[in-house]
Amino acid sequence: MITEERVPTGIPGLDPLIEGGLQRGDFVLLLGGMGTGKTIFSSQFVYNAALNLNEPAVFATFEEDIKSLKRNMLNFGMDLSMLESKKRAKLIDLDVLEGRGLSSNIQVLLEALDEIKGRRLVVDSLTAFLAGTGEKFDYTFMMHLIYKTLKREGITTLMTASRQISKVQETGVEEFVADGIFQLESYVTDQMEMKTRFLVKKLRGTEHDRKYHSLAFTPNGLTILAFSG
Ligand SMILES: Nc1ncnc2c1ncn2[C@@H]1O[C@H](COP(=O)(O)OP(=O)(O)OP(=O)(O)O)[C@@H](O)[C@H]1O
Ligand SMILES: [Mg+2]
Repeated sequence: MITEERVPTGIPGLDPLIEGGLQRGDFVLLLGGMGTGKTIFSSQFVYNAALNLNEPAVFATFEEDIKSLKRNMLNFGMDLSMLESKKRAKLIDLDVLEGRGLSSNIQVLLEALDEIKGRRLVVDSLTAFLAGTGEKFDYTFMMHLIYKTLKREGITTLMTASRQISKVQETGVEEFVADGIFQLESYVTDQMEMKTRFLVKKLRGTEHDRKYHSLAFTPNGLTILAFSG
């Protein structure tokens, strides 16, 4: 029997839904609208692995500058500065690199991974990361290049996408490339309360859960609950 290695995601409640974790080198897209928890989820993906699994990570941010990212994540007990000082993480502000072109931005990420011997990569968000590239051909080509390179290196990757889910499906490129699609969704209950739910839409090679799960924002970050409601 082939025993495959599973790497815990670092998100409480998620691993039991996906056979104990991701497969090393998986490329996962985290889709979700505004304020659904994409950045908190991404930080937990990096933080818990860097601290407890000896998996250093590169976190590339476009959506929030590094200072506010650090401040916001400290609210959830995640000290990203401490990780940086221990060389367990490297934070990159992609906004600063704007205008340098997609391939040189990719180069920056790969060099950062090399520098800290990174095992995980987050890009928050892919939407912003790709915004600079106009040509469809380039874009598709680049996605495949990123995918193949990271997979070869065994780097487990999470990228967020904030645009409308229908728009993502329109291009189809990310969904085609990604090994996994996780989805965060806001919805309004009968009591007119806004809540967030989580769904594993796809995960290659994994017998995954197919139900919606409620999401709780706790002092330690997000927790995926066993039920939905
Ligand atoms: N201290 C807190 N306690 C509980 N919930 C919080 C706290 N801080 C933030 N939140 C919740 O987390 C949400 C923001 O999470 P996050 O920044 O990860 O979302 P996002 O999907 O990355 O948003 P954006 O699309 O703006 O980048 C807020 O909308 C709020 O509901
Ligand atoms: Mg965000």
